[in-house]
Amino acid sequence: MDSSAWDARYAATDLVWSATPNAVVARETADLPPGRALDLAAGEGRNAIWLASRGWRVTAVDFSAVATRRIRELADDRLGPETGRVCAVTADLMAWTPDPASADLVVLAYLQLVAGERRPAHRAAAAALAPGGTLLLVAHHSDNLSYGVGGPQDPGVLFTPADVEADLDGTALVLERAERVDRVVPTGVALDVLVRAHRPA
Ligand SMILES: C[S@@+](CC[C@H](N)C(=O)[O-])C[C@H]1O[C@@H](n2cnc3c(N)ncnc32)[C@H](O)[C@@H]1O
Repeated sequence: MDSSAWDARYAATDLVWSATPNAVVARETADLPPGRALDLAAGEGRNAIWLASRGWRVTAVDFSAVATRRIRELADDRLGPETGRVCAVTADLMAWTPDPASADLVVLAYLQLVAGERRPAHRAAAAALAPGGTLLLVAHHSDNLSYGVGGPQDPGVLFTPADVEADLDGTALVLERAERVDRVVPTGVALDVLVRAHRPA
């Protein structure tokens, strides 16, 4: 889907994703001291706003202008005087690259790209990590097509933990977790990729 298709999807409804953060993002970041976070393909900002509520300063990037406008509105509503902790940026990750070593946490939640786009996006995300920083990636797993529910039905944008490991080869990140995880949804069990890695201090 291009940015216009995402704009149309977001414009068609009040909230496409949940108001609460993704459970894995919440669990895996709960033990980290707040610092500078980057939420890449942030959607309506459920994860970015939650991180900001916990003291992070978050740059939330998405190529849908409708989504980033919603991030701003939701951040104002939910964070009140702390709304300035979220900076929403409308940008295409195929053209916009985060500053190297600028983030203590990079979140990639359900950015589903074909391999030729995915690899540079994952490597740019890794390069954005400052020493000691954590990369947290959650995505729809290739197995979801046959054994899970929901998610994109195009196998070309699905991937595995091994694909992410290969994408990150040579970035000097240390992998902490690279696995398939279950996500229970009302219609059944969805299968996700979970990768957590860090740049040594
Ligand atoms: C499935 S949504 C996930 C949103 C959010 N991460 C979450 O978990 O709620 C995928 C998002 O990726 C964004 N996206 C897809 N390709 C992108 C690109 N090349 N650059 C920036 N954003 C992109 C879409 O606009 C959409 O908001």
